Amino acid sequence: MDVEVLTDDDWKLLRDLRLRALDESPGAFLSKADATRAGDEAYWHERCARDTWVIARIGQEVVGMACSVQDPDHSSDARHVESVWVEPAHRRKGVLRAMLRHLVESEPGVHSWFVWVLDGNELARDVYERLGFRSTGERQTLAGAVERSEARMRLDDVGIRGLGSAP
Ligand SMILES: CC(C)(COP(=O)(O)OP(=O)(O)OC[C@H]1O[C@@H](n2cnc3c(N)ncnc32)[C@H](O)[C@@H]1OP(=O)(O)O)[C@@H](O)C(=O)NCCC(=O)NCCS
Repeated sequence: MDVEVLTDDDWKLLRDLRLRALDESPGAFLSKADATRAGDEAYWHERCARDTWVIARIGQEVVGMACSVQDPDHSSDARHVESVWVEPAHRRKGVLRAMLRHLVESEPGVHSWFVWVLDGNELARDVYERLGFRSTGERQTLAGAVERSEARMRLDDVGIRGLGSAP
């Protein structure tokens, strides 16, 4: 498996993957903006430029994606992981672990990795726990057509070391 960081040239790949993730796992994500702006090239360029996106490939096939974004509430040594998705046929094979390790290794100055997990997505919560994340106790309710809430988890230095090194 190879993990690579997307560049601006990859905006179409990012768009198509993100739409595939939203379509395949609608209960795992909130962002309707991505779906409604599917055809808006400027939007996807901006998303490529603003955040760090990684994808995992097995051979020619793209099997997963994840994103690292600056956390507005925390100092520069913290990041949020978002838009995490793995192709169903390739789940439970270490794809997320590999993508997370890549993000962590590419930003050695970051000591806290956060993720928001929607209530109801117990599987993701369990997976993040297996990867070393722990609940911060923070919760937020999100306004929308259907009100939803989510809980925050954090991976600290001990958890980061537990991810191990890339093979
Ligand atoms: C959550 C998700 C990204 C996990 O990706 P993945 O590549 O299957 O995860 P990994 O294979 O790296 O597994 C990481 C750990 O979780 C465990 N795990 C993964 N899926 C599991 C499952 N269904 N049940 C129990 N444990 C599981 C793995 O065994 C592994 O632990 P280990 O290394 O100690 O054995 C994937 O299931 C997915 O895309 N789900 C739908 C979208 C989603 O919920 N995204 C998260 C939004 S917050």
